[in-house]
Amino acid sequence: MRSPQFIDLTPPGPQPLAEEAAAGLQARPARLPPKFFYDALGSRLFDAITELPEYYPTRTEAAILADHRAGITAAVHAAVGRGATLVDLGAGSCTKAASLFAAFEPARYVAVDISANYLQGTLQRLQQLHPAVEMVAVGMDFSSRLALPADLTCGPALVFYPGSSIGNFAPAPALRLLRQAHAAAAGGALLIGVDCVKPADVLEAAYDDALGVTAAFNLNLLRHLNRLLGSDFDVRQWRHVALFNRAGSRIEMHLEARQSLTVRWPAGERDFDAGERIHTEDSYKWQPADFQALLHEAGFRHVEQWTDDLGWFAVMLARA
Ligand code: AVJ
Repeated sequence: MRSPQFIDLTPPGPQPLAEEAAAGLQARPARLPPKFFYDALGSRLFDAITELPEYYPTRTEAAILADHRAGITAAVHAAVGRGATLVDLGAGSCTKAASLFAAFEPARYVAVDISANYLQGTLQRLQQLHPAVEMVAVGMDFSSRLALPADLTCGPALVFYPGSSIGNFAPAPALRLLRQAHAAAAGGALLIGVDCVKPADVLEAAYDDALGVTAAFNLNLLRHLNRLLGSDFDVRQWRHVALFNRAGSRIEMHLEARQSLTVRWPAGERDFDAGERIHTEDSYKWQPADFQALLHEAGFRHVEQWTDDLGWFAVMLARA
């Protein structure tokens, strides 16, 4: 029986993350990167978000992949052939990529995620279901830099980056990451999900749902910080804010202090005025033509695109 290979490229110990969190809290305005959402509860809350009627991206992307399965599969095989390496960025539970194994027929699956321990368990189960596929789990925070060990990308690879996760990056860092994805594809291709610009009311409802699941997801970041940093955030003193910044073409999520307060942790403290915010996430929305231009700038030669009828979401296959 084959067993997955495991490569941990995350820096050891919780210290770097705690320092990054403290620096973000001291910044003016305060700002924390979205990776702090994803503790165990945060990952479950995100899964719940994907089930919400207001949150269209997950469901729309899945419908595009299902409705255009034959065309996408043909384009993938034209780009990387059968028996290629499938590199899954932000693999998480690996369900999206695994659902494509039967169509794409990869010989090797490289799952990359910041949460290395979680990946290991997931891949062990997945290996039982797909004994013929060679599996590698890579624990890595590719938001700062995507650099895979050279022996993992020897031939052309299909890099898979679904869910519009690229939306967390502003255009300049997105370009940087796409260049690194181009290098990782090694002459293969990138299959990527991109969320498109649409009316503000649709976007704002998707990030501020009626049940308050997204509010809980945003507020849970404070509880995660309390554990990570030893801070004393009182979640009740904060409010979830989501707004579409049309000039910046992005949804912004913030946590807003309901009252003036002080947060303390072992190595520091920070005062917040009533109404002062912590910026917790940007989710950029693209015009498809602008994203295609970005892919070309990153070195991809040819882009094919599939969308839903409303043009809310796009799946693009970019050939390296
Ligand atoms: C995981 C970055 C794609 O931006 O839509 C969902 C995260 N935040 N609801 C997104 C998220 C609030 C999500 N991504």
